[in-house]
Amino acid sequence: MKKALGIIREEHRAISAVLHALKQLAKEAQDPSVEPRFDAFRAMIYYIDQFPERLHHPKEDRILFARLEERAPQAGPLVEALRAEHVLGAQLIRDLEQALVGLEVGWAGGAAAFRAAVDAYAEFHWKHMRKEEQELLPLAERHLSADDWREVDAAFAGNNDPIADLRERDFEKLFTRIVSLTPEPHGLGERWRKRVSA
Ligand SMILES: [Fe+2]
Ligand SMILES: [Fe+2]
Repeated sequence: MKKALGIIREEHRAISAVLHALKQLAKEAQDPSVEPRFDAFRAMIYYIDQFPERLHHPKEDRILFARLEERAPQAGPLVEALRAEHVLGAQLIRDLEQALVGLEVGWAGGAAAFRAAVDAYAEFHWKHMRKEEQELLPLAERHLSADDWREVDAAFAGNNDPIADLRERDFEKLFTRIVSLTPEPHGLGERWRKRVSA
């Protein structure tokens, strides 16, 4: 029982690993002599947008948060704040995509603006996940019933939704692609090439 707790933490670790790699690469892209791999940036941003949006947040919002609100009304303000962060996070990703275009077309200050957007998003998302792990999950452990946990576990294990299960495998594949596109030492890919100077 309470398998969902392990799955939530594991999903947070996967998101966190991609955020770390994205932050490192955004830092390396500040060097005008290197040629960034934009397919790596795009795969990472797609992952941190779609994985929470499609798989992780819906299970939190619809099942875990909803049960906690019913069992512990005092958790209402916390749940409301976390739900609002899910909405805000999706908006911040759009800023990140815009900033990536600025880097890709070589606008003045594009690399710095992209790095600032990445750092802001990573900080925002880490704070969100910490709040869930340190504040929400302990409350859920205290207040949810055995029946609630059966329901939450089933949702997070994806075993009551064959479509979610399929998506889970797709995201694992995408995660592997990100690792192979990310240059060492942060991933398993080749280091970025240096630009040939004119
Ligand atoms: Fe969340
Ligand atoms: Fe979460």
